[in-house]
Amino acid sequence: MLQVRVKPGIEDRIRGFFPWIYRPEIASLSRKPRKGELVVVRDFGGKFLGYGYINPEVSIAIRILSFDKEEPVTPELIRKRILEAYNYRKRLYINSNAFRLVHSEGDLLPGLIVDVYGEYAVVEFTTYGMSLFRDVVLSSLLEILRPRGVYEKTNLTARRVEGIEVEEGVLYGEVPEEVIIWEHDLRYCINIPQGQKTGFFLDQRNARRFVRDLVEPGDRCLDVFCHTGGFALNMKKMGASEVVAVDLSELALAVGRKNEELNRLSGINWVNANAFDFLRDLDRAGERFDVVVIDPPSFAKNRHAVPNALRGYKELCVRGLRLTKPGGYLAIFSCSFHVTEQHLFDVMTQASYDVRRQVRVVARTFQDKDHPWILQMPNTLYLKGIWVEVV
Ligand SMILES: C[S@@+](CC[C@H](N)C(=O)[O-])C[C@H]1O[C@@H](n2cnc3c(N)ncnc32)[C@H](O)[C@@H]1O
Repeated sequence: MLQVRVKPGIEDRIRGFFPWIYRPEIASLSRKPRKGELVVVRDFGGKFLGYGYINPEVSIAIRILSFDKEEPVTPELIRKRILEAYNYRKRLYINSNAFRLVHSEGDLLPGLIVDVYGEYAVVEFTTYGMSLFRDVVLSSLLEILRPRGVYEKTNLTARRVEGIEVEEGVLYGEVPEEVIIWEHDLRYCINIPQGQKTGFFLDQRNARRFVRDLVEPGDRCLDVFCHTGGFALNMKKMGASEVVAVDLSELALAVGRKNEELNRLSGINWVNANAFDFLRDLDRAGERFDVVVIDPPSFAKNRHAVPNALRGYKELCVRGLRLTKPGGYLAIFSCSFHVTEQHLFDVMTQASYDVRRQVRVVARTFQDKDHPWILQMPNTLYLKGIWVEVV
């Protein structure tokens, strides 16, 4: 197997279970590597550190899958990890038939995402090295889940950066255009081929549940960046008299309307608009709400984009605070690792000062438990939300 030695000083981080090695951190290779090839990683003196795969064309050149000398990377190891991930999910008692089965590094399977929607599974390979295990990933899923269909979704960024060439489509069985799943006591229509991510924002399940604690019958609620209405439906379910839900995607709103019908709810006002313009217009019109949830897409794909992202967040916090009635609640989320919880607190603090509204933190939420994060890898905690009462 290809032998890699890392530069002096890198070994402690790897011994602390951090599974990434950046290209400049490689001291030597026993020969020219092939893309996706398996490697043994050693410290500068030659002591074993781990087994992984390499892509010499990208910045995160090596991802380690095993820190155990007795456990090299084999199709059997991949199968075992998928089974462990499945058994872990079973112990979580997720109140839904849709869940993330494999969360990449969070399940010690860097480069692999698997989401389950009832009888269907969606697979996403985000690294070239992991995509070479497609066959064993598929056979493990068939064995463990016995699904009706498995769909491979393309992660466009990964395809461009890592050079994964496979086109997206059905890997096994049949996958209908729309799948109905349940979460808590609501049902959702999922459009796997055309929907964002693998079809649904599974990571917000706990936050969608939590919003129910804040909504009182008769409340006026606002779901900003609503996608297919995750928060809006829960608000309505709690008896909100009026819910306004805004998103830029017509497709997401069309699915949202179906979700409303599917759950025999009515009265959600679905608005197709740019959220920034829409919030400004609502504010100017003097509209006010009891509960406001703002769940934007990632504004910062890398650390260079953070200052701009924070300007966007500040504007959302200012508008959100102004639109929330005294005693009402406002939530804002970041799904980018680079925009941290502390950033959210900071922009909320600045916005609170600017609009002269005091805030009191009522809760902090994170990606739900089927998206595990590991302490040694801060990157695995990407979704953070802060919930405040606007005094
Ligand atoms: C993180 S998702 C929201 C997930 C949703 N809260 C849920 O529980 O399913 C972000 C959404 O923002 C939408 N979006 C992106 N840019 C937008 C913009 N400028 N204005 C309005 N919506 C936008 C996307 O279409 C996407 O549906």
